[in-house]
Amino acid sequence: AKGGDRDGSVKQQLSKLFKASLSATVPDEPNIEPLVEVCTAKFGDYQCNNAMGLWSRIKGKSKEFKNPNSVGQAIARNLPPSDIIESTSVAGPGFVNIVLSDKWVAQSIQKMLLSGIGTWAPILSVPKAVVDFSSPNIAKEMHVGHLRSTVIGDTLSRMLEFSNVEVLRRNHVGDWGTQFGMLIEHLFDKFPNWEEAGEQAIGDLQEFYKASKRRFDDDSTFMERAQKAVVRLQGGEARYRDAWKKICEISRKEFDLVYQRLGVHLEEKGESFYNPYIPGVLEELSNKGLIEESDGARVIFVEGHQIPLIVVKRDGGYNYASTDLAALWYRLNIEKANWIIYVTDVGQSQHFDMVFSAARRAGWLLDSNGNLYPKVSHVGFGLVLGSDGKRFRTRSSEVVRLIELLDEAKSRSKTELKKRLEENGKIADWTDEELEKTAEAIGYGAVKYADLKNNRLTNYTFNFDQMLNDKGNTAVYLLYAHARICSIIRKSGKDVEELKKMGNIVLGEPDERILGLHLIKFAEVVEEACTNLLPNVLCEYLYNLSEKFTGFYSRCSVVGSAEETSRLLLCEATAVVMRKCFYLLGITPVYKI
Ligand code: ARG
Repeated sequence: AKGGDRDGSVKQQLSKLFKASLSATVPDEPNIEPLVEVCTAKFGDYQCNNAMGLWSRIKGKSKEFKNPNSVGQAIARNLPPSDIIESTSVAGPGFVNIVLSDKWVAQSIQKMLLSGIGTWAPILSVPKAVVDFSSPNIAKEMHVGHLRSTVIGDTLSRMLEFSNVEVLRRNHVGDWGTQFGMLIEHLFDKFPNWEEAGEQAIGDLQEFYKASKRRFDDDSTFMERAQKAVVRLQGGEARYRDAWKKICEISRKEFDLVYQRLGVHLEEKGESFYNPYIPGVLEELSNKGLIEESDGARVIFVEGHQIPLIVVKRDGGYNYASTDLAALWYRLNIEKANWIIYVTDVGQSQHFDMVFSAARRAGWLLDSNGNLYPKVSHVGFGLVLGSDGKRFRTRSSEVVRLIELLDEAKSRSKTELKKRLEENGKIADWTDEELEKTAEAIGYGAVKYADLKNNRLTNYTFNFDQMLNDKGNTAVYLLYAHARICSIIRKSGKDVEELKKMGNIVLGEPDERILGLHLIKFAEVVEEACTNLLPNVLCEYLYNLSEKFTGFYSRCSVVGSAEETSRLLLCEATAVVMRKCFYLLGITPVYKI
């Protein structure tokens, strides 16, 4: 569905009704934002919480109202007529409780089935966003922190894209900096024929990095050469630039293997890309009086921080912060993004806070009620821990290689899958390719889901046994639940496309209503996950959906019952929504178990 076919979330639709009611109730108080929430008590499905706040503003002034409850009564009375609402009631200090019409809920599900899940895409007010994620560093290892950034950033991009936001997925690769001096000199020394031999010569880039770092630390003449090499590279000397390019290329191939396995697309605009913009941006900041001398460096002082943001080092070189200021300038002025989102570990939150504050001082970001516009957000996340509770490492306490980690997830999931199929006597029905594809979907899906289901700010423990368990809140459990629903529909022998056109959904039993109500919350859940940049909100919704489906399926018979058509459509709607959740989480669904 295109942008125009979207109805908006249930909350948004109710908010429209309440907005009309509020302006009819208190015509002298224009532009009151309706406060609509899911109902916490059992009096209704949603509630409107404006009465108390309104009362404290109008009491004394109004003869019409004698207490907050009477304001609530008026809000309920002034609601425009609509198919959405079955009934209202007013509780205590004016909470207006809403019971949704079963018929409307059923129709809304049916409409989604006919026109596609796009009709349930949320409506966001942001046209264009930059999501800066993954962003590993050339020649250094791409570690589990980058895996988290890749997985979280991809999900956020997918959710925003689904919501019709134009997303620029940016890989802010660390491809510039002093480490290249030592890498290049080491390359020249060890592999004089590097231009022809290239990759084979360098072999393992991480080993290569370590070896050159050792020389840099131990050998002062090498260190001096490396420092000069940086200057020659930045001065644009051809041989140095070529060597730099070669090293970047080799790293990039490694990164791409990870992205391929994960099915993640990104566009690289590394630190080097912004380098030409730094002098101009610093000049602008300097003209605005933001830049001061401090200890031989050039710095920007920002509110709330003891130490300033260094933008030119004492040796005259630029750094991470100057690059980020130039990148922010570029994203605002050239790319014209309305929301810029940075996905890194929480350890970098001070850096981003300072960059954002500097941008605000420069007048790039406007401050209204404590919210900056264009929006900038740092999406921080916690550490990945091993079973010992310490930073996740290999047994020999090396950094875990992401390719190996993902391959292990796949091979473990393949073993489990085969075992399961052998036990069920189904292994003969599976081709090798099906096994392979399913093991991939489950293995990579498990790694992603285990990361995404936690609030991103918490540290999470990496544990293959846990994430590959087919019980509990895991990708495996959810993927199987979805496959089971598909098999219910297949085994009914009915043509779902025909059912969609003819059948009517009826929410007769309580379990049917609970399921239906959860289904239609999809749009507002995606909206919340986008606005608060929290993928775990969508995971929680998905897991609850599978639970509500289980409740429905265990108490309502489907195939062969009098309500078969309606119930098969509920099965189909659940499968459609689950698949969309999988898609948004970057997980490939499976259909056969
Ligand atoms: N390369 C950095 C790292 O590995 C992450 C870059 C994040 N993006 C940015 N614009 N600073 O920690």
